[in-house]
Formats: sequence, C-alpha cells, structure tokens
Amino acid sequence: MILVTGATGKIGRLVVQHLLNKGVPVRVFVRNERAFDDVENPSLELAIGTFEDTKSIEKAVEGVDRIFLVARDNPEQVSQHDNVIKVAEQCGVNHIVKLSAFGASRNSPIALMRWHAETEKQLRNSKLNWTFLRPHLYMQNLLRFGTQVATGSTFSAPMGSHNFALVDIRDIAEVAAKVLVDSDHVSKVYTLTGPSAITFKEIAEHLSDIFNQSINYNQLSPEEFYQMLLSNETPSWRAYDLAYIAEAYPGDRKSLITNDTNILLNRPARSIRTFLSDYQTTFQSKQ
Ligand SMILES: NC(=O)c1ccc[n+]([C@@H]2O[C@H](COP(=O)([O-])OP(=O)(O)OC[C@H]3O[C@@H](n4cnc5c(N)ncnc54)[C@H](OP(=O)(O)O)[C@@H]3O)[C@@H](O)[C@H]2O)c1
Repeated sequence: MILVTGATGKIGRLVVQHLLNKGVPVRVFVRNERAFDDVENPSLELAIGTFEDTKSIEKAVEGVDRIFLVARDNPEQVSQHDNVIKVAEQCGVNHIVKLSAFGASRNSPIALMRWHAETEKQLRNSKLNWTFLRPHLYMQNLLRFGTQVATGSTFSAPMGSHNFALVDIRDIAEVAAKVLVDSDHVSKVYTLTGPSAITFKEIAEHLSDIFNQSINYNQLSPEEFYQMLLSNETPSWRAYDLAYIAEAYPGDRKSLITNDTNILLNRPARSIRTFLSDYQTTFQSKQ
C-alpha cells in the first residue's frame, strides 16, 4: 500500500492516477472527505487527516509500505513533515519519496528551499529509506498568466533575464509514480528539469509564434513585485520567495539542465513548446 499525501494538489492528484493505472493500491491522505468522489476505483482508499494531527497520520500509515510526502509551502512544513517521518518510523513504513525542489539548500535566500533542505536532512538521519525528487519550477506556473496574455498580450513577472529549466508537472508525476513503485531508487536524489533552459522573454517569443501575434514579457523588479504582494496581504515570507526565487538557481543554462527526467521516463521530458501548445486555450481570449 502506498500513502499519497498532498493528494489533492497539482502533483499528488496526477500521481494517484498513475498509481491506480498501474493497479497499485493507493491510500490518499486528505483533509476533505469528498476530495476523491470523482474517482471510482476499488484500489483507492481514503484516510482523513492533517499533518498537525499525529493520530490521523498513525491511522493513515497502517499497513503502508511507502509514502509520497508533499505539502503546500508554509512556515510549519518542517514540523508537519517531521510528524509524518516520526510516525512512519514508529509504524514500520519502509520508504518515503519526498517532493523537494531544485535549489533546496540550508543556505538558500529562499525560505521554501531552506525548509526542503531541513526535511531532507531529517529523512537522511531517520531509519527510513528515502528518495528526493527535486523539480525545477513547474511549467504549469505559467498558466497563472493566462488571463493577462489573453486580454493584454503581455505578462508581468520578476524573473529578470534569468534562465529556467521549467519542467512539466505531468512528467514530475510520472517520475514520482515510477519511483514509488520500483525498488531501485533508495538514497537517490533526482533533479527534475525540462529539456532546455529558457528566459521569460523566450517564453513570450514562443507564445508570439504560436498565436502569430506579438506577446510581451513585462519585466518587474523583485522589489516592486515584493511590495505589490505585501500590499495584497501576501505573508512576507511568501512575497519574498515569489519575488526573489530567480536567485535560487544557477545562472548558466548548462548547469540547470539534468538528464534525470529523461532517464527515469525513458523518453524525452516535455518541452516548453509542447506545454504551451497543449495549454494554448488558457492563453487565448474566450470571445
Ligand atoms: N510550484 C512549483 O513550481 C514547484 C517547483 C518545485 C517544487 N515545488 C514543491 O512542490 C510542493 C507542492 O506540491 P504541489 O504543487 O503538488 O502541491 P499543491 O498543489 O500546493 O497542494 C498542496 C497539497 O498539500 C495538502 N496540504 C496542505 N496543508 C496540509 C495539511 N496541513 N495537512 C494535510 N495536507 C495538507 C493540500 O491539501 P488541501 O487540498 O486540503 O489544501 C494539497 O493536497 C511544495 O513543497 C513546493 O515547494 C513546487
């Protein structure tokens, strides 16, 4: 039995689908008991609980061999994950696959990268087998620009002229399901990237090409974006991470791209062009 946490999230939901398609018994750890009402599959079980409630974690891990560990970024996530790790150790779970992030480091200027590094350290120091998946930024983050592009042929972000090896969540989820099912990924750290590193200006050029019209990237300064988020009542740690995240990645294209996604999938990772084409209706005016 595999326990999928963060099962209602972007990656978790796709991982559940992959595991069920493989015929693997899956238990989802969810806060909302109706969250999987749309999935009818005898191999799917629900465990209701939260990371704060260790009793609910104890019930959820009964008979579980492996856990996919995912949370929403937040200042409590290290202790939330620590609860799962401790209960998993006590209850005889064999292996945790942790969704971490490219750039996870205790010295990162970005809080979520430091939190991921801390949980990685706790897992390395535990009795459990572990695997870390460290994806670069999701291509699907770009979908938040859909309305801006559709209505104004522009999108604004504080990403400077940095390169990003964006990766498609469909590939991340497929990798996660494979790593959860196969037995040869213990103590491995996989850095999941797309096949190329690109700037946001180049993303605008791809969109312009697909839609045969000029679409522009409006470069915001990180400070300007940070202040904008604070004035919208975004918590200051989150505002800082979103405004300055480009600083978490190396600058040159070569050191951004890895082969891990291709090797694990046994096919090329999806390109930015494939992603933009697959989701092009999101960037199109609805009239
Ligand atoms: N976005 C990116 O570009 C990117 C890139 C690399 C790595 N990552 C990492 O990916 C992780 C997030 O994965 P995701 O995008 O798939 O998740 P997501 O869509 O943000 O969903 C978060 C999941 O965690 C669950 N959750 C939140 N708080 C919980 C709690 N207290 N108890 C139990 N469950 C809780 C949520 O359940 P509910 O539905 O009940 O809220 C949801 O299922 C983060 O650690 C992030 O750093 C993100």
